[in-house]
Amino acid sequence: MSKRVLTGITTTGTPHLGNYVGAIRPAIAASRLPGVDSFFFLADYHALIKCDEPARIERSRLELAATWLAAGLDPDRVCFYRQSDIVEIPELTWLLTCVTPKGLMNRAHAYKAASDANLAVQEDVDAGVTMGLFSYPILMAADILMFNAHEVPVGRDQVQHIEMARDIAQRFNHLFGNGTDFFVLPEAVIDEELATLPGLDGRKMSKSYDNVIPLFEGGAKGLKDAVARIVTDSRLPGEPKDPQTSHLVTIHDAFADPAERAALRADLTAGLGWGDAKQRVVERLERELGPMRARYAELMARPQEIEAILQHGARKARAIAAPLLAALREAVGLRRFVAASQASAPARAAAAKKPEFKQYRESDGQFYFKFVDGHGRLLLQSRAFAQGRDAGQWVARLKREGAAALADAPVAHADGVVTEDVAAALALLAAE
Ligand code: TRP
Repeated sequence: MSKRVLTGITTTGTPHLGNYVGAIRPAIAASRLPGVDSFFFLADYHALIKCDEPARIERSRLELAATWLAAGLDPDRVCFYRQSDIVEIPELTWLLTCVTPKGLMNRAHAYKAASDANLAVQEDVDAGVTMGLFSYPILMAADILMFNAHEVPVGRDQVQHIEMARDIAQRFNHLFGNGTDFFVLPEAVIDEELATLPGLDGRKMSKSYDNVIPLFEGGAKGLKDAVARIVTDSRLPGEPKDPQTSHLVTIHDAFADPAERAALRADLTAGLGWGDAKQRVVERLERELGPMRARYAELMARPQEIEAILQHGARKARAIAAPLLAALREAVGLRRFVAASQASAPARAAAAKKPEFKQYRESDGQFYFKFVDGHGRLLLQSRAFAQGRDAGQWVARLKREGAAALADAPVAHADGVVTEDVAAALALLAAE
């Protein structure tokens, strides 16, 4: 099975060049590696914790979605969705909340910082603390465990949350797993070398320092004006300059290839003026960012296109989330009364015949396949294929990837069949 990597994108603020170099670009590059199944989602439930302005919430998630798509995230290759479209996540959050010790949450950094600050000024320890802030790590655990992610790339400040997700997963597995583990224990992946880009003044680029270069905001002019404000020393054109100590050079390097890097260094040492050097940097940045900015503008002008992409992502994500959640509900005892009065769920599953795929050729000469459950009920019907091989490949992919492939597969659900039924049958088949 491929490795599942999950990345959460907090939908607050507008991304800057430092976010692009340090997070967006490397994450997209990683999602293109073979053997990796990537999940990217807009953590918009998390955004509600810090923001009670609906217009900002709405704007921010749209901008973030457009930014990642414009930067090259491929929604056909990865699963890209909004957290708030996955109704299974808040439900899982509750199941996890019920096994999470309060003491564990007392130690969470975000809560500790708020409560320590209160105590320092002799306020009530919980002044201004919402339950959203307090139990934030449980929601984050649900994000991760819902998709059984193996790896979660995060910044240092988030490592504690991944450890809490492991704790919570272990506890749930132990209490309800009955020998089978529902949840994979996720690992935090911290990229030690991850570029932190300097800002205009040489300190780390950050909104809180007010030293950022915007990514798309303000257009080409915004970029050019920001680069013009990068602080340099006061050497004049013709005077030799030290490329080693220049953060203009560091910013350039984050975009340039080795030959371009060497050329800028040599030219600065030979006396290139800062104004000319900045011009060169703007051109280099523009080469990578210009086409993305154009795509960004196109997407922002057509929010319905972004909406369709995210809905498609939500269908893929829910095809995975729904069957897992159904199993979890069963495990904790939230079962249908009819089922409870009959045999136990595992026994019922064993008694039923396995679901199966059937491939066949019709009198029209075309090839088809269908998927039927253990009682012979039709679940999926494929479209016609000119080549039997193509039908076979889809069958293989559905068997291999299960419900995750459903959104792309050229199949129709039979009347009255819901995705959850199909997903459950695919999972049963895979469990052989
Ligand atoms: N809390 C994360 C942040 O502030 C965003 C996030 C939410 C996240 N859910 C996640 C990251 C799940 C990774 C996995 O950056």
